[in-house]
Amino acid sequence: MAADAQETTPDGGPKHVAIIMDGNGRWAQKRGRPRLFGHQAGARRVRDIVEACPGQGVKYLTIFAFSTENWKRTQTEVSGLMALFRRYIVREARALLTKGVRVRFIGDRIRLDEKLVAMMDELELLTSHNDLVHLTVALNYGGRDEVTRAAKRLAYEIEQGRLTHKDVDAETLSRFLDTHVLPDPDLVIRTSGEARISNFLLWQSAYAEYEFVDTLWPDFTPEEFARVCASYAARDRRFGAVKT
Ligand code: FPP
Repeated sequence: MAADAQETTPDGGPKHVAIIMDGNGRWAQKRGRPRLFGHQAGARRVRDIVEACPGQGVKYLTIFAFSTENWKRTQTEVSGLMALFRRYIVREARALLTKGVRVRFIGDRIRLDEKLVAMMDELELLTSHNDLVHLTVALNYGGRDEVTRAAKRLAYEIEQGRLTHKDVDAETLSRFLDTHVLPDPDLVIRTSGEARISNFLLWQSAYAEYEFVDTLWPDFTPEEFARVCASYAARDRRFGAVKT
């Protein structure tokens, strides 16, 4: 979506918030527990923040659950996270459906377990008529990987004669991204005090505002979420232009 077409809520809050949920491991470590304990607490926090969205006027929430680089973690952690995603879908499906949440997944599904992919498809279909909050879960997602896959599909369309090189512009490439149905994020939040974007929504965040908070993800409350949304509303976004 073009930067100047982005919208905000009536009180100037962000319409689309993207979150890098960082700090689960450290949260668990501080309690002398295994890393998966932190991820479980992180999954519970997802529910709280999704539920807080309507109150903040946030229509789109995109969360980074597993990156293309996260496969480098130990086998125990990777398989524990995959099991957690399956459990999350089973346990949360009904609540998401009845609370008006439409769920989508972005990322490359090729490396994911078939059973998990089937569950993701099912949840997307089940919630496809909802429109209160659009929750997008990035799973096996990497910004560079997404742009590369989009470029490959675009090249294929050209090879097949359905497009020509003259059709290639930012708008056309955007249509091949996993996020093609979503507006660009207005605000990207990263928890746990790290000030990096770690390959998250690289293309889509070109004009986003960033907020890095020290709180570890399992401690990130709806109240803090509300504060961050309010501080976004106070910012002056210009999209490269000069305010007249
Ligand atoms: C980063 O923290 C977090 C992850 C790689 C996983 C994110 C997953 C969740 C929040 C839980 C499940 C989500 C859903 C949608 C059910 P880290 O492990 O890198 O923390 P650290 O930097 O303190 O080690």
